[in-house]
Amino acid sequence: MPAIIAIDGPAGAGKSTVARKLARRLGYAMVDTGAIYRAVALAAKRIAIAWDDDAGLARLLDPPGLPIAFGENDTVFLDGEDISAAIRTPEMSRGASVVSARPVVRERLLDLQRSLGRAAPRGAVLEGRDIGTVVFPDATVKFFLTAADDARARRRHAELAGKGHEVDLSDVLEDQRRRDKDDTERAIAPLKPAPDAVVVDTTGLDLDQVVERCFRAVRERVAA
Ligand code: DC
Repeated sequence: MPAIIAIDGPAGAGKSTVARKLARRLGYAMVDTGAIYRAVALAAKRIAIAWDDDAGLARLLDPPGLPIAFGENDTVFLDGEDISAAIRTPEMSRGASVVSARPVVRERLLDLQRSLGRAAPRGAVLEGRDIGTVVFPDATVKFFLTAADDARARRRHAELAGKGHEVDLSDVLEDQRRRDKDDTERAIAPLKPAPDAVVVDTTGLDLDQVVERCFRAVRERVAA
């Protein structure tokens, strides 16, 4: 069985950066599960299915399922089209948050996430909200990354600015608080640390230090 490393936590805690660097150091695959929810939101919008239309979403995801694939350098493809930029807009952040609260969506994405993790030859680092609690409750090592909300908003703001999205920091913070509330209070698979997760507060930490710490924890566990 490949090693499965779960990295969960709220938006802006540094999960993507840490997951990417950790996967590279370990020689594991990296699976960004938020990108899958984002792809569902984009695919739904394109064919005019509302993000809370359970019957429509079920139709979209029922076999053969969404033709989603991951490429090099975090590229995401939908039916062969590179949608990496299209899923990273503030609109798709909102859409992903809405579709991810629908049980029909979460349930239908479980097999896809599990097969992406298990298909990795050596191991996989999966990054999301419920990897350690729901998708892989038996993960080899679980991390829960968190940070103060203004630190998270500043990271997210810088990331959006780097991609040419000019938004106010206060709007990012407000939007993030709304998403945090939705993610932690939803009835199904709410965002929370698994009881056996290593909780890392990344406020004020250099993310390379976090990667180092996670890397050591994985090596200890995998060697054991
Ligand atoms: O990590 P992200 O911002 O790309 O995630 C987009 C949305 O998807 C976010 O609102 C939380 C949700 N999500 C989820 O509910 N479960 C996951 N495993 C990953 C993301």
